[in-house]
Amino acid sequence: MKTYLVTGGAGFIGSNFVHYMLKKHKDIHIINLDKLTYAGNLENLKKVEKNQGYTFVKGDICDKPLVEGLFKKYDIDYVVNFAAESHVDRSIREPEVFAKTNVVGTVTLLNAAKTAWETENGYKEGKKYLQVSTDEVYGSLGKEGYFMETTPLDPHSPYSSSKASADLMVKAFYDTYKMPLNTTRCSNNYGPYQFPEKLIPLMINNCLSKKPLPVYGDGLNIRDWLYVEDHCKAIDMVLDKGRIGEVYNVGGHNERNNLYIIKTIISYVHDNVDSSVDESLIKYVEDRKGHDRRYGIDPEKIKTELGWYPETSFEAGIVKTIKWYLDNKSWMDNLTSGTYEEYYKKYYKI
Ligand code: NAD
Ligand code: TYD
Repeated sequence: MKTYLVTGGAGFIGSNFVHYMLKKHKDIHIINLDKLTYAGNLENLKKVEKNQGYTFVKGDICDKPLVEGLFKKYDIDYVVNFAAESHVDRSIREPEVFAKTNVVGTVTLLNAAKTAWETENGYKEGKKYLQVSTDEVYGSLGKEGYFMETTPLDPHSPYSSSKASADLMVKAFYDTYKMPLNTTRCSNNYGPYQFPEKLIPLMINNCLSKKPLPVYGDGLNIRDWLYVEDHCKAIDMVLDKGRIGEVYNVGGHNERNNLYIIKTIISYVHDNVDSSVDESLIKYVEDRKGHDRRYGIDPEKIKTELGWYPETSFEAGIVKTIKWYLDNKSWMDNLTSGTYEEYYKKYYKI
């Protein structure tokens, strides 16, 4: 029986990971440590809250006594650190909280795991810390080439800089203390339970409520879209088989520009939900400051070493995702009727 400390498990990817793992493995215990910021939502975990293999703890990854207490209370085998401030636009407005959670929080977790797992001549058997990072730490690509694990870090936004800082701390814990760990750097995820400030759920929500669709700049920035379940599978494989100390890039080979994504969503909603929804909803707005042009991952290492590959094509994944939001309208309504709506109005002014 393995015990996992999953942080940020009430957020988008974390909650998908909790579902994925409890379905796939019958004999595990997941402790979900989450501060429940605006992005954390216990609704995401309704289906597992009574599961015997699941425990929720409300708290901050920067809270050293709390984190150390969890390692004393439970014999934790794996730490999977999802907890983060994750939205680039927010990081441009409020950078401090990104440094605190993403950097200080990561070091707090690393140090507590190291202390709990250390033995006289190394570490207890079978322990591993996994840092969930992002391809944004590599910066921005031109028309050609891909991010490899060896690509130098060149982050631009406060978000990606805080994630890169955390990655360097993780590297330090390996280089200095030989702590058993891995880092994964994935591309843009999409799927169920994603907070509607990110491109895909925002556009789905706005299309369904016939609100303007804000396109930053010329709309031709490119992201490499990864269906969230494929990402969860990759993390499970890296925990199980990833070589200690290694970084693994996780990408979908699904590069699309933002306008393509938006037009795909419009067209689905037009054809299947409301024929009055069309491209006239598109509204070009001021570009994001320091907007990275293109992200694209070369996932060869995780494919050849661990046998992982993305199973979901963008075409299949986007339809599944739109259908999920249609089937779970109350989930979206609960989010968009509260303070988020005020935040959205204040900053987007549309
Ligand atoms: P999210 O914003 O949906 O969820 C973050 C979760 O962390 C929330 O539940 C929040 O309550 C929790 N949290 C925030 N601060 C905390 C703190 N101090 N202590 C404890 N919990 C805290 O984020 P996500 O999209 O699910 O991303 C998860 C991870 O994956 C992040 O580390 C992010 O950098 C990384 N990532 C995300 C994407 C993506 O496309 N979403 C892509 C690459 C990497
Ligand atoms: P986002 O989902 O914020 O992810 P990230 O910036 O971390 O890749 O944005 C994805 C792309 O969509 C990015 O190029 C910015 C763009 N975008 C818009 O054009 N309009 C929007 O309202 C949002 C939220 C994003």
